[in-house]
Amino acid sequence: MENPFTFGKAAFGEQFTDREQDTKRLLANFKHGINTVLISPRRWGKTSLVQKTASLARGRRLKIVTLDAFSCRTAHEFYTLFATEVVKQTAGKWQEWMENAKKFLASLVPKISIGADPVRDFSITFDFSDKKLSVDEVLTLPQRIATEKGFKLVICIDEFQQVAEFDEHLSFQKKLRSVWQLQPDVSYCLYGSKKHILANLFSRQSMPFYKFSDVFFLQKIPTSNWVPFICKRFQATRKKISEKIAEKICDTVENHSSYVQQLAWITWSGTAKTVTPGIFESAVVALLNQNAMLYLRYVEELSAYQLNFLQAIADGVHSEFTKTAILQQYQLGTAANVKRLKEALENKELIDINDKIVAFNDPVFRLWFKDNIKRI
Ligand SMILES: Nc1ncnc2c1ncn2[C@@H]1O[C@H](COP(=O)(O)OP(=O)(O)O)[C@@H](O)[C@H]1O
Ligand SMILES: [Mg+2]
Repeated sequence: MENPFTFGKAAFGEQFTDREQDTKRLLANFKHGINTVLISPRRWGKTSLVQKTASLARGRRLKIVTLDAFSCRTAHEFYTLFATEVVKQTAGKWQEWMENAKKFLASLVPKISIGADPVRDFSITFDFSDKKLSVDEVLTLPQRIATEKGFKLVICIDEFQQVAEFDEHLSFQKKLRSVWQLQPDVSYCLYGSKKHILANLFSRQSMPFYKFSDVFFLQKIPTSNWVPFICKRFQATRKKISEKIAEKICDTVENHSSYVQQLAWITWSGTAKTVTPGIFESAVVALLNQNAMLYLRYVEELSAYQLNFLQAIADGVHSEFTKTAILQQYQLGTAANVKRLKEALENKELIDINDKIVAFNDPVFRLWFKDNIKRI
């Protein structure tokens, strides 16, 4: 039997719910060659949405390439991944990958290695001795393939905020933009979680990617959709949950996609036939326990000031941290210090700031923090 719920990897098939408008918007962008930047906090559903849309969009005339920049530490690593995935994912058989690599990357001297299983163990490395030429050759690769083969291409790059970590990242971005904007048959879907970094890259007039794309802030899936989804998944496996408890699952984790699935899963696995309030309560405790190691690690990495700041938010302070009474009560230091605290915690993706309102990014970490971190 298929698992009724999933977390920790992208949701697909029966495990994917809602996002109808989002899918429509992204699909239209894919089909019409409009660049997209998709932003949301971690684990709300970006990767799932892009994969689902890609599966709907793929066809003879439209190819979708997906790659994940998460592990790229340098521009060189990025170019290598980019070239490898474009070559691989635009070809049907591995023999065709080889042909493509030779044909389209001729002056790059690709070194191709194939393992025991050519479908999985296939890698290309490049000799970057003539850097300038090579970079252009990699970045123009999608358009050259699209022209030759007569299809359109969408290149989806996950965890794109990673590029802001590269050395000389501004000139890197300028390079990408200058080449990418000249590609009539290729569009890009760039997505990731560090909102402040990504919004900076794409919404600031002074930045290379200004006005490059449709900037799309993904929202949470509403309770009105989660509840029937949860009830149906229980039913499909001959178990029962009331709408009221399904709603409580959503409320407890503030509709955070991954946690809705995780809490539903724990509740489901603790249930023989019908969920009772007691089973649900134990599931919440188990959810906190299962994540406690992770939260301990978050806390260990924080300074005393940062902990104090989180304490204030946990107590319900969401703005005006620089008021004298708040600065004193939570020992936050100076107003300048508050600014630094916000930046640091936002960078660690522990808080999210919307219209100057500061909140925990992770609703279950917030619950755990309230229960486990001693008040000052
Ligand atoms: N449309 C969806 N329907 C059901 N569950 C979802 C959906 N989107 C996300 N999830 C849940 O959230 C988790 C994280 O999703 P993911 O797409 O990896 O998020 P992100 O890429 O934003 O970090 C998934 O493992 C799944 O449990
Ligand atoms: Mg993701």
